[in-house]
Amino acid sequence: MIEIIDCSKSYENIVLNNVSLKIKDKSFIILKGLSGVGKSTLLNIIAGIVKPDSGIVKVNNIEITELSDSALAKFRNANISYIRQTQGLVHWLNIRDNLELPFYIDAQDMEKSAIKKMIDSISEQFGITNILKKYPEKISGGQYQRAAIASSIIKSQNIILADEPTNNLDKNNIKILMDIFKKYKSKKTIIIVSHIDIFDELADEILLIENGKIQNV
Ligand SMILES: Nc1ncnc2c1ncn2[C@@H]1O[C@H](COP(=O)(O)OP(=O)(O)OP(=O)(O)O)[C@@H](O)[C@H]1O
Ligand SMILES: [Mg+2]
Repeated sequence: MIEIIDCSKSYENIVLNNVSLKIKDKSFIILKGLSGVGKSTLLNIIAGIVKPDSGIVKVNNIEITELSDSALAKFRNANISYIRQTQGLVHWLNIRDNLELPFYIDAQDMEKSAIKKMIDSISEQFGITNILKKYPEKISGGQYQRAAIASSIIKSQNIILADEPTNNLDKNNIKILMDIFKKYKSKKTIIIVSHIDIFDELADEILLIENGKIQNV
């Protein structure tokens, strides 16, 4: 369960104005709203990347607004897959190493062979098997986007946040992504920011941010 309780966040203007929201485990949520209303800010707050000015955020019953930065980083790595709007692959690592990276962020006893298996399987799903040895600047924009999304979800945490994941993807790649989200539906909590309506059919709830408030549509 994700609970946002009386949260406010302002930059130059008020972005979120005393909002409360509960998101049940394994629900599929679409977040909509015009550019600049605070969609990415809300995802960042759920991921603990941005702290609200006031209010409480609980994820899986842990009050993340109270955690130290290092505890938060650990928490995020264990619980949250975040597909950011500005995607990031590490440019000095090849694609395979980028996919391995999430497994080394906190030391855990996962067998190398098991990690390799997961990388091979997700690479196949995303059609990036043939570029695993390449470096990010040597691949196409679509391949980059797919590799970045693969690296975000490879650990398959229980909460997937995706900020405009279809940006720059062609029809074929949107279909690949759609199939992946379909596979995870009802198994994980999924929150997607999307301007296009393609994911609406999968949604348990569609939320709209407007004037600092969040409403069901
Ligand atoms: N780090 C920041 N510093 C200052 N202002 C910020 C910061 N992050 C966001 N904002 C402002 O907060 C508001 C909400 O930004 P946010 O990125 O959440 O919008 P959004 O709904 O995701 O928009 P888009 O659809 O364009 O991605 C905007 O007015 C933005 O300029
Ligand atoms: Mg945004």
